[in-house]
Amino acid sequence: MPEKIRIAIDGPAASGKSTTARLLAKKLGYLYIDTGAMYRAATLSVLRAGIDIHDEQAVVEHVKKIKISLKIIDGVQRTFLNGENVSGLIRTPEINQVISVISSYPGVRQVLIEQQRQLAREGGVVMDGRDIGTVVLPDAELKVFLVASLEERARRRQLDMERQGIQMDLEEIKKEIARRDELDSSRSAAPLKKAADARELDTTHLTIKQQVEIIYQWALEKIKS
Ligand code: DC
Repeated sequence: MPEKIRIAIDGPAASGKSTTARLLAKKLGYLYIDTGAMYRAATLSVLRAGIDIHDEQAVVEHVKKIKISLKIIDGVQRTFLNGENVSGLIRTPEINQVISVISSYPGVRQVLIEQQRQLAREGGVVMDGRDIGTVVLPDAELKVFLVASLEERARRRQLDMERQGIQMDLEEIKKEIARRDELDSSRSAAPLKKAADARELDTTHLTIKQQVEIIYQWALEKIKS
């Protein structure tokens, strides 16, 4: 039985992390953990509770009390908030608008990072996010940092939104992604940053299939060694 490694995939908004990580996990028979979905569920919960997002203490206290879980149903990962399936509610422009504020709070990160480490305890995981290789799993056996041009990332996000029936202007999406990149990279708590020992992959001109295959080969090298 080969060793089950931990794979960290980080990168900026819409760089293809989630799709790549999900397909890679499937190919390896590993568990896929979408940490962005956890921050999204926490943000939804804060908004629903009517808490002022700038009241850090109230936000942190709220996030400590909620239960977020990830479950695979019919081969698709679903996100649950206090037992309710919120998968369809967490990828909206409203959430994108405020998520960087909620996820910049160290207290919020502490709660979610602890849960993420528990999920990865046994190995055999592909986890995607912003700080997986640097903070959540600094000793992950394989770390990948995905990048792609802003233009291409905006185009991909537009397609994602279209599939959900949401029409958005490309220039608006570009602005929103650039804003989120800036906030995610400049926050003091666990900013978006490439780990020193991460392998960088530029996906601008790659298909999903190609990028999954490249990382799969990197994973096999690690598993064999
Ligand atoms: O990967 P995503 O677009 O679903 O992530 C949504 C937001 O959540 C992102 O803008 C920043 C935050 N996030 C984070 O701070 N740390 C992570 N590990 C994952 C996401």
